[in-house]
Amino acid sequence: MIDQTELRACSGDDLPGLKDLYAKAFPDEDLFPVVKELSGGDFPVLSIVATHAGEIVGHVAFTTCEVSPDGGEVSLLAPLCAAPRLHRQGIGSALVREGFKQLNEVGLSQVLVLGDPAYYSRFGFRPDDRIEPPYKLPDAWSEAWQSVQLRPDSAQTSGKLLVPPPWDSKALWAP
Ligand SMILES: CC(C)(COP(=O)(O)OP(=O)(O)OC[C@H]1O[C@@H](n2cnc3c(N)ncnc32)[C@H](O)[C@@H]1OP(=O)(O)O)[C@@H](O)C(=O)NCCC(=O)NCCS
Repeated sequence: MIDQTELRACSGDDLPGLKDLYAKAFPDEDLFPVVKELSGGDFPVLSIVATHAGEIVGHVAFTTCEVSPDGGEVSLLAPLCAAPRLHRQGIGSALVREGFKQLNEVGLSQVLVLGDPAYYSRFGFRPDDRIEPPYKLPDAWSEAWQSVQLRPDSAQTSGKLLVPPPWDSKALWAP
């Protein structure tokens, strides 16, 4: 990751910086309302920011979700972004890897993501057909629904993913 970039836990004070970051990173999609809801809910979210010279230049959130009827807990990685002017400098990867480390420390061993396999496969993500997403995905997205086991010895969960309110919207699971 580029020099003088730091990773730290996200706080409510970061919302203005996150609003700017998301406007730049996702010019065609408004994900900030979800980011805001994730920061103020009464459900577990691991939210990490990357800062550079005092500015927020990257963010990732991992939401803990239950898998029904198994009752197992998994983590949903979303969203993830880095400031466009600093792309390809390792910020996205550093955020994902830091998240994996912290999730592992609290015993969460499976992470799901809906995203481009060309990017997420570098972290070990592979298409997942055991956990059903909260809303049916278009067929063209079947490869985009992926998971990774953070510990090779952990049991794989199967069932339907139950998501907390910020993610419980069909629009977030459709093109
Ligand atoms: C995806 C994103 C977070 C990557 O952040 P980053 O800090 O540039 O990532 P890193 O520097 O760790 O990794 C860069 C590598 O990922 C690749 N990459 C980035 N986006 C990619 C994509 N959609 N598909 C394939 N590869 C991708 C780059 O080409 C680069 O490859 P290289 O290592 O071979 O040079 C960033 O491009 C971004 O914010 N994009 C807009 C928001 C977005 O699409 N978020 C993900 C979906 S929620």
